[in-house]
Amino acid sequence: MNVLIIGNGGREHALAWKISQSPLCGNLFIAPGNAGTQLHGTNVAIPPSNFSEIGAFALSNNIDLIVVGPEAPLVDGIVDYFLDRPDLKNIPVIGPAADAAQLEGSKGFAKAFMEDYDIPTAAYREFDVDSLQEGLAYIEEQTPPIVLKADGLAAGKGVLICGSHEEAKLELIEMLGGKFGGASARVVIEEFLSGIEFSVFVMTDGENYVRLPVAKDYKRIGEGDTGLNTGGMGAVSPVSFVDETLMEKVEDRIIIPTIKGIQTSNLNYKGFIFFGLISVDQDPFVIEYNCRLGDPETEVILPRLKSDLLVHLQELAAGKLGTTPVEIEGKAATTVMLVSGGYPEAYEKGKQITGLENVVGSIPFHAGTLEEQGQILTNGGRVIALTSLGKNFREALKVSQQNADVVQFEGKYFRKDIGFDL
Ligand code: AMP
Ligand code: GLY
Repeated sequence: MNVLIIGNGGREHALAWKISQSPLCGNLFIAPGNAGTQLHGTNVAIPPSNFSEIGAFALSNNIDLIVVGPEAPLVDGIVDYFLDRPDLKNIPVIGPAADAAQLEGSKGFAKAFMEDYDIPTAAYREFDVDSLQEGLAYIEEQTPPIVLKADGLAAGKGVLICGSHEEAKLELIEMLGGKFGGASARVVIEEFLSGIEFSVFVMTDGENYVRLPVAKDYKRIGEGDTGLNTGGMGAVSPVSFVDETLMEKVEDRIIIPTIKGIQTSNLNYKGFIFFGLISVDQDPFVIEYNCRLGDPETEVILPRLKSDLLVHLQELAAGKLGTTPVEIEGKAATTVMLVSGGYPEAYEKGKQITGLENVVGSIPFHAGTLEEQGQILTNGGRVIALTSLGKNFREALKVSQQNADVVQFEGKYFRKDIGFDL
């Protein structure tokens, strides 16, 4: 099978690493990829937003399967683009169609979906510029902290947790006034849930589903979960507090009703679902849906997947998911993200990365990297995710830490406490 992966981060490197190990894998391409993905396949300089070039490439290279990493092309309708064209419709694109991708692309859509199907989530209401006064009154009725969410995609910055009524009111006015452009033309205001977060991943063909390993990511830049939010500074899998009882609740109250809701609402969803969950006194609630795998969660999930991902993806595309059981490694995995100095605010790119060849015991998944004239250079805020497996995550973390010192680039920063709260 010839496979095309769309995207260029650590998640896509992990996908390329895993898929290339499959005996079924023929030619593997990554568009646009990074310096790590090219170790497992061929990078192609096509941006993920250019569906017509992706379609033309897929035809001329006899692509049998396309795996979409990031959310933007899904929300923008890459699946629909392929399905609408007679020459492309037989090339399966793993991911939901645009209407189903609204589960991630529109917070309001996701909240209404959860309300319709009795899926536990924070109480909420949605407002736009015409209902600003009602929004301000609604804020008055809430007990802070109050959570405000831009309805649309806002590069991970669209959620604000406000400590007072005054702050929430000012933010609502700013958001509806265009603080996040069109993404905040509608705003969801919701109840603050106090608990501990974790991430559950499933693959679904719209009818059947299989579960992938549970993970937890660490989003804040500083140790002890302090400072600004980032794309993710590290992750662990499994998650010690997610026991059988909690997973049964997740399955019965969240996963199964979501899959049934997708069917009842006639949504075309053949891909990954990422449930961002919070356990409140051991009861799970949905914080958000994502229509893709997480980054850096993928960098701990796939190294724990013993079965062949390409087999699962092939079964997903054929509507036969679950024919081959998902096998998961019992060991714990940790990933530690090396980031550019200054990230998540302004940072420089183009710094030479050295020492990758001396990494022992970890898999260096490339995130923001680029190869130029034989040198590997930094090309983003998140640069390299160092994944290790161990008897437990502390052992795994020790190996990732050692290798974090081995890989060098100017301005390098990483958190030493991934998994500290478990
Ligand atoms: P999101 O962009 O939806 O992932 O939200 C970013 C972060 O905001 C989440 O990972 C949570 O830590 C936090 N958050 C979002 N919604 C709530 C909520 N209702 N209660 C508490 N924390 C929340
Ligand atoms: N690590 C969180 C995300 O991928 O959205």
